[in-house]
Amino acid sequence: MVFDPDSALPHVAFRDPAIFAAELDAIWHGDWVFVTTADAAPNPGDQLPVIVGRQPVLLLRQQNGELAALSNLCAHRGTLLVDRPANTKRIQCPYHAWTYDDGGRLLSVPHAPRDAVDKPAHCLPTYRVESWHGLVFVSLNPEAEPLAERFAAVEPHVAAYGLDAAAHRSDQQETQEWACNWKLAILNAMESYHLFRVHPETLEPFSPTKGAYYITGSARATATGGATSSGHDYLLISLPPGFVGVFNSAAFLWQAVHPIDAERCAVRTGAAWGSASSTHWRSRIANWFNRWAGGAAYGMPDFLPEDKAICERGQRGAIGDFAPGPLVPIERVVADFGHYLNWRLNGVEPPAVHTAPDTGENR
Ligand code: FES
Ligand SMILES: [Fe+2]
Repeated sequence: MVFDPDSALPHVAFRDPAIFAAELDAIWHGDWVFVTTADAAPNPGDQLPVIVGRQPVLLLRQQNGELAALSNLCAHRGTLLVDRPANTKRIQCPYHAWTYDDGGRLLSVPHAPRDAVDKPAHCLPTYRVESWHGLVFVSLNPEAEPLAERFAAVEPHVAAYGLDAAAHRSDQQETQEWACNWKLAILNAMESYHLFRVHPETLEPFSPTKGAYYITGSARATATGGATSSGHDYLLISLPPGFVGVFNSAAFLWQAVHPIDAERCAVRTGAAWGSASSTHWRSRIANWFNRWAGGAAYGMPDFLPEDKAICERGQRGAIGDFAPGPLVPIERVVADFGHYLNWRLNGVEPPAVHTAPDTGENR
């Protein structure tokens, strides 16, 4: 199904199992998927089980310091190898103890004649893994373009914020299940149009809808921004299919969406900030995350229940049929996402990067 990028998505896109299956194949198994932040596996031997679409993947820090992504399914009878964060040099299956090194090579097969198993033919498949400013993405698709190409349009804007020097905190990330299609959740995170109506007390007083503007973007990645009450503009980066991050003057806050099925998704939130965070921002971040203790933020942002409610309401309405309405200029990032869907699902070449005039659009 080819979508009209200038209109809202049709309801069928939020409920149809056939469309969901096509998305799993072409997007979640065919594109880059955010899995965690790099601090989740800092030391050689660190292992972290993650799910990419429907594929169990083992993210690990090899002895040489490189991140690797292996299939987390034993090459014998397919048992899940690692089911919680761990640190070991080798990976041993809990079922019959087939043992692999950190490159996925099969090292030993207990209780079998020496030539019973052709070991080089039964290694764990490896996948693409790349880190971008401490954000770790995995792709099951060996042909996926490098992240530097994918995010090139937003890179100059991100660079100014010094994200590499900020501390990601994987121990403070939290995940919720939302009763809505993954696209409802990520589109909601991308656009700033709804702030005044959905977040009149939590976000609008701080980052009003009328201050939001488009900077640059395409199907690959989009940067938008907005004026805030503190006088520092924020920068919001939308990285389809499932990642949105917002930079303010002291912190980077993000939301990542991963599908569960056609009508449910998992929404994860996290933050990174540098030691220079001002007291003002620290209290703002603390509000966002509800709790602040020992120099760290915990919990879910205060605006998130409002987003969850409106997205789940969208899903409740998606049982019917309607003629998709037009997008307004402030929603240009939603159109970029429509182009992303057409590109990944239907092979439609996306339009070139669009950059707003110096004054920004809607500014
Ligand atoms: S299933 Fe892993 S060793 Fe048998
Ligand atoms: Fe929102």
